[in-house]
Amino acid sequence: MESEPDIAYRRAMGAFATGVAVVSAVRGEALSGLTVNSLASVSLKPPLLLWCLQKTCERFELFARAEHWGLTILGDGDEALARRFTRQHTETIEESDLLSGVPVLRAGVAHFACRTHARHEGGDHLIIVGEVLGFQARPGAALTFYRGRYGRAEDPHEGGA
Ligand SMILES: Cc1cc2nc3c(=O)[nH]c(=O)nc-3n(C[C@H](O)[C@H](O)[C@H](O)COP(=O)(O)O)c2cc1C
Repeated sequence: MESEPDIAYRRAMGAFATGVAVVSAVRGEALSGLTVNSLASVSLKPPLLLWCLQKTCERFELFARAEHWGLTILGDGDEALARRFTRQHTETIEESDLLSGVPVLRAGVAHFACRTHARHEGGDHLIIVGEVLGFQARPGAALTFYRGRYGRAEDPHEGGA
């Protein structure tokens, strides 16, 4: 059970509005998806990004060991996918595409193909730094996560504003 200070800390960090992404990795003949919002851009030259993997995750070994993995930033219509990939028993990705040889979701507003560049200890998480091998982006509203709730952010470049 979480202590009062843990709940307060989690609530305070929840004031940082984020997007929602799905990390994809090959599991045998299938593809596994994990919903994350710890994504951050690290470097432009070379292009590096990071995300943090909870050590208590049932799928820790799979995602911690993966040398190549995809990252899909979800659009505002993708909440059901975000919910689905939070659970191991519904982790299988049904619709995927290959980007630079790495599987990503067909859904989403941006996709990144990554190779693991470094792994760092981060308390109860493992910090995974990925080198970006390829990426693509398309216009559209984003799925967001703010104060524990999903929401949406309009694309400021759409709608003739
Ligand atoms: C909006 C949102 C963001 C999340 N971000 C992360 C994250 O950055 N890292 C992580 O390991 N788990 C994150 N989770 C939790 C995972 O999606 C997953 O539920 C958890 O690791 C348990 O997975 P398991 O069923 O394989 O144990 C997030 C969940 C939600 C709903």
